[in-house]
Amino acid sequence: MACSKVFHRSIVLLRNPNTLENYVGHRACSWWGAVQMGPPDVILGVTEAFKRDTNPKKINLGVGAYRDDSGKPFVLPSVLKAEKRIADKQLDKEYSPISGTAEFCKHSILLALGEDSAHVANGQNATVQGISGTGALRVGGAFLASFFPGPKDIYLPTPSWGNHNPIFRHSGLNVKAYRYYDPSTCGFDFKGALEDLSKISERSVVLLHACAHNPTGVDPRPEQWAEISALVKKRKLFPFFDMAYQGFASGDVAKDALAVRAFLKDGHQIALAQSFAKNMGLYGERAGAFSLICTDKEEAARTMSQIKILIRPMYSNPPIHGARLVTEILSDSNLRQEWLKDVKLMADRIISVRSTLQNNLKKLGSSRNWQHITDQIGMFCFTGMNQQQCERLTKDFSVYLTKDGRISMAGVTSKNVDYLAEAIHAVTK
Ligand code: LMR
Repeated sequence: MACSKVFHRSIVLLRNPNTLENYVGHRACSWWGAVQMGPPDVILGVTEAFKRDTNPKKINLGVGAYRDDSGKPFVLPSVLKAEKRIADKQLDKEYSPISGTAEFCKHSILLALGEDSAHVANGQNATVQGISGTGALRVGGAFLASFFPGPKDIYLPTPSWGNHNPIFRHSGLNVKAYRYYDPSTCGFDFKGALEDLSKISERSVVLLHACAHNPTGVDPRPEQWAEISALVKKRKLFPFFDMAYQGFASGDVAKDALAVRAFLKDGHQIALAQSFAKNMGLYGERAGAFSLICTDKEEAARTMSQIKILIRPMYSNPPIHGARLVTEILSDSNLRQEWLKDVKLMADRIISVRSTLQNNLKKLGSSRNWQHITDQIGMFCFTGMNQQQCERLTKDFSVYLTKDGRISMAGVTSKNVDYLAEAIHAVTK
């Protein structure tokens, strides 16, 4: 019997609980009998598969999460210190405000815009804590879906982080694309990006990765950002920056904020999503921020009131612990300096392991040009390997990566880099 029919009858028979139990107790006739098995997440599913593998040589280069040179998760020394200080304060566990604490929001936006930001001094920012970068993007998406005065279209670079498309679709926006990456050079398709951006209908939203583009590790140069900014202005587009890797591209948080700050200097109003998952290693703490830069304080207050109204039915208010860690670190000048050193240490290790991987491939006699391994920046290398090669890498060598050929350089260590180079060479010969 077709389940839909039974489901229909079940509704009719609701008044007789015994009969209903007979129907829904039977698997084929459950309320959820028609729910199909979904695919694993393209990024987080890689970690699940990695965990099931018993090969001692296995390497997880799927998720972008920093590892130390022993391949272990890294809790930043500055974070450990902040954690101890917070524990000593014996703070309460009361609800956070809907928007997160004012201190957290202020320190977050100042980190992005600079301590001397006139926008912050003038109260032009409406900033809320997000549930890490994902939550910040989702809140931003919800706000744009409700209040953006232009078409509800958001243009993402091709390719973009695998979660961008679903986040904005779930927010109610139409997701479209502009060219970004050139597979023939493994670099930035500047010409293609400009061509596409110049055709986007006016008053649309364009998503820009502020630094350390995910998944490609390819960023525009400062002079290219300047041209993009001019074009975005000319075409009356609204720039939404995702800054999930501030500090990870160059090891310097100010340098990595160049694009965001340049756009503000050029007079754009922007939306900004920030994450502390990577640069503070607070992956599971879910601390991030969403900001809108408005024309004045009064407009910021109005937009802020609406953002809070959107957040309340989604999750009421954000988690407190990660936000306290961020606040502790950013508000104490000594601890902040220690943290900046921790960020540099992580970025430098990734930079050094890029060179080792490239050299090893050369030494093995690879005829391919692996220049892009060191040209690309941030946590990822977009290797240029095709799906078949990626699958072989996993099947024959237990090297786990996303099918688009992205590898998280943070998972490469001095101990596994030889094996990794051999594996990559074997599948790309
Ligand atoms: C990634 O791209 O690997 C990270 O941003 C983690 C995630 O949530 O996808």
